[in-house]
Amino acid sequence: MARVFVTSPLPGEALERLAAHHEVAIWREERRPTPAQLRAGAAEAQGLLCLLGDRIDAALLDAAPGLRAIANYAVGVDNVDLAAAAARGIAVGNTPDVLTDSTADLAIALMLAVARRLPEGLAAVRDGSWAAWSPDWLLGRDVSGATLGIVGMGRIGQAVARRAHGFGMEVLHSGRGQGSGIALAEMLPRCDFVSLHCPLTAETRGLMGAPQLAAMRAGAYLVNTARGPIVDQVALAHALRTGAIAGAALDVTEPEPLPPDDPLLGAPNLVVLPHLGSATMRTRGAMADRAVDNLLAALAGEPMPYGVG
Ligand code: DGY
Repeated sequence: MARVFVTSPLPGEALERLAAHHEVAIWREERRPTPAQLRAGAAEAQGLLCLLGDRIDAALLDAAPGLRAIANYAVGVDNVDLAAAAARGIAVGNTPDVLTDSTADLAIALMLAVARRLPEGLAAVRDGSWAAWSPDWLLGRDVSGATLGIVGMGRIGQAVARRAHGFGMEVLHSGRGQGSGIALAEMLPRCDFVSLHCPLTAETRGLMGAPQLAAMRAGAYLVNTARGPIVDQVALAHALRTGAIAGAALDVTEPEPLPPDDPLLGAPNLVVLPHLGSATMRTRGAMADRAVDNLLAALAGEPMPYGVG
């Protein structure tokens, strides 16, 4: 029986399955653990099940000398220092596939929300400013038939492309996956929507900066369901204020949570959600199953079924 530190309760039955085999300690406070609390929780553990907001760095690994397995409750592993884990012989796993459809659905929802001005319409109904049906009130842009540029044609990018084809969209792509597509600089001026689906790496941090936003069409929209730091938010706020792009819809930001007084939130034509891409009951339960499958395998001395690195 190994000791496993789990940094949050999870939906579904997966943690009970884990607890049937190992001694499980769960961080149950609503407030996320500080780095010191993470180190204390992991100190005696052989297994760690962590969330995407938990920074798993060399300092944490040094504080947990017995650690053999890390199961990240996310497909993205940018919060884990993979090199530091590999150097210590610690297996790392993620939760691929099961969140692909939920995240792709949300990317399409964000396109529709920002281009069809859903938040403004909802607010108008609630605050009484809906005076009458009017031919020129709250006019947006059509998603149907528009051109979509996908950055990162991996599992989620491909799932977004399938949905976009259903809307009669022309789909272009750049970045890795399904062939290399076209260069980002070539793609951006051709798109009405640009949707980000690449992992956060040293290469993609700040990928959508001032030059890339300037290369987009003035009537275009940026959608980000990947990771916040892929977009330069200062440049994005400027692009929205100056009308360099028509709008942006973000499910991810830097930092998360985004403080309510963050200057980005003052920019016009912006929809921001609190990282809900995988937030359905079925998906979050399936993610818990994958994370637990990873731990059970690694703690039994077998390869993780969803290992990374
Ligand atoms: C992931 O799994 O990386 C997602 O961001 C969670 O929604």
